[in-house]
Amino acid sequence: MPTSASARVSSSPCSARQGAARPRQRTACFRPLAREEVELILDTADSFLEVSRREIKKVPTLRGRTVVNFFHEPSTRTRISFELAEKRLSADTVSFSVSTSSFTKGETLLDTLRNIEAMHSDMFVVRHAQSGAAHFIAEHAAPRVSVINAGDGRHAHPTQAMLDMFTIRRAKGPDFGRLRVAIVGDIMHSRVARSQIHALNVLNTGEVRVVAPKTLVPADAGALGVHVYHDLRAGIADADVVIMLRLQRERMQGALLPSEHEYYELFGVTEEKLAYARPDVTIMHPGPINRGVELTSDVADGPNSCILQQVTNGLAVRMAVLFLVNQAAAVQAKEQKSVIQWSGYIRA
Ligand code: CP
Repeated sequence: MPTSASARVSSSPCSARQGAARPRQRTACFRPLAREEVELILDTADSFLEVSRREIKKVPTLRGRTVVNFFHEPSTRTRISFELAEKRLSADTVSFSVSTSSFTKGETLLDTLRNIEAMHSDMFVVRHAQSGAAHFIAEHAAPRVSVINAGDGRHAHPTQAMLDMFTIRRAKGPDFGRLRVAIVGDIMHSRVARSQIHALNVLNTGEVRVVAPKTLVPADAGALGVHVYHDLRAGIADADVVIMLRLQRERMQGALLPSEHEYYELFGVTEEKLAYARPDVTIMHPGPINRGVELTSDVADGPNSCILQQVTNGLAVRMAVLFLVNQAAAVQAKEQKSVIQWSGYIRA
């Protein structure tokens, strides 16, 4: 991030670390990323897109830096994307998975953190099933360590939202004000939806819709600045972009859906239903996709699908975020300031 955009996240607008277990007390206020900061990430990603097309896919940007990928939840895209982004920036990288770590022998998250820090790591990339986990780790990490949120519980998945904005910008151009974007699926349990809605609003998108059964939309969805639909055809009518989301069974408590088959009948996107959207509609999905539940193969693999393009773009966006966080950390170290945390919010 640029100097002014050193970042950490909090569920409340202000946060102060309690206790004096660490050398420096950290106190900060937070505000969401502003439009120019989102655009800086997207512009920086534009310049990194080309690196992956080279024969030698490497630049020396993070040479000598050590990045630990701290994944406490299954992941395919985000984990491989971060790992490749780090390697293409020449960082030393290590990936840590809870199922093969001493966490299974009873070691706590904090003790694990202390041990990894003791090996002089510079950055943690954190994926965790609990909302707020990246913030918790950032609050307890050594002041010299930067922390990037790679998805926490239902709360946020900021790099996914940035790569989605990047994909929309490349498909539709930079004027989000003329776009109608529909997000279809399990809004209630989706960190991706929350981060996307925030980013779409920051970019002044013409209209943001959420389309889902009543049981899968938060009661306060209207307050997020979106229009809520419970009918798929109406919800995607004349949409420029349709983003589908997976049913997140692992986060559902109780019977929120009669069956996947019924969900597919009512909310699964088929070619027939897609005819209600604009003819040049861009189809997106953060993955993993469930064919025959959220969408048919015709739609997933069809000419309007940008689903694999999202994955390609994700690598460039993560290279951009790592580059900007490292740049801000270097400036802060010079100024004897504290840790950088990046979770889609910046320290004000
Ligand atoms: N989109 C996404 O976060 O995918 P993974 O869970 O596979 O990382």
